[in-house]
Amino acid sequence: VTEPDLEGRHVVVSAGGTREPLDPVRFLGNRSSGKQGYALARTAAARGARVTLIAANTALPDPAGVDVVRVGTAVELREAVLGAATDADAVVMAAAVADFRPAAYATGKIKKKDDREPEPITLVRNPDILAEISGDRARAGQVIVGFAAETDDVLANGRAKLKRKGCDLLVVNEVGERKTFGSEENEAVVLGTDGSETPVAHGPKEALAETVWDLVAERLG
Ligand code: PMT
Repeated sequence: VTEPDLEGRHVVVSAGGTREPLDPVRFLGNRSSGKQGYALARTAAARGARVTLIAANTALPDPAGVDVVRVGTAVELREAVLGAATDADAVVMAAAVADFRPAAYATGKIKKKDDREPEPITLVRNPDILAEISGDRARAGQVIVGFAAETDDVLANGRAKLKRKGCDLLVVNEVGERKTFGSEENEAVVLGTDGSETPVAHGPKEALAETVWDLVAERLG
């Protein structure tokens, strides 16, 4: 039986991967399916929370009893997260957000010119949404959770990322072309600013989600 330990709480979850358009036809994107974020949204709703799910380019059905906001780019995701976070008790950033976007958007399809080399793509930085809502910028009592998607030196990079981002909890998971992205399962270590390190064994994405909410509920008191 699920305890309604998040009853009366508003939680915000981001899921999926942002797409940064180059022209009306192409974008820079990533391999996130949204499954981990949706598992977080479903489990929070089952524990009694009011859930706002901010979904970037996912092909998954809306979970029952969850408010879903659909976005495309990192800039749109930022607007939605900042808006929803103002009265949230917890924010969990499971979305894979592009760090960079093309500096220019071509309003017509970019053409191949037979006699010329392709133009290089210039990138500019996207806002760091997690850093923007963490630390001093969080509401009093609000719990902010980030994810770290790493391919090498997973734990060391995760520990450094926790310091840099300033969130309360960071879920460190390994990713690759066929690892974690799109799969039904995940495994992770959840790092806390209090120095805690909670390993979560390989299993359904729901199991990791439940551990995240256990740790959030402890911190909400
Ligand atoms: O969607 P699935 O297929 O189920 O896959 C799940 C997942 C691998 C996408 C998920 O578990 C995961 O790791 N999500 C975070 C992906 C990511 O962007 O990691 P990162 O290490 O690049 O970013 C660190 C954190 O900062 C993340 O919480 C991210 O949401 C946030 N971020 C990143 C860049 C940026 N400009 N703004 C941000 O807020």
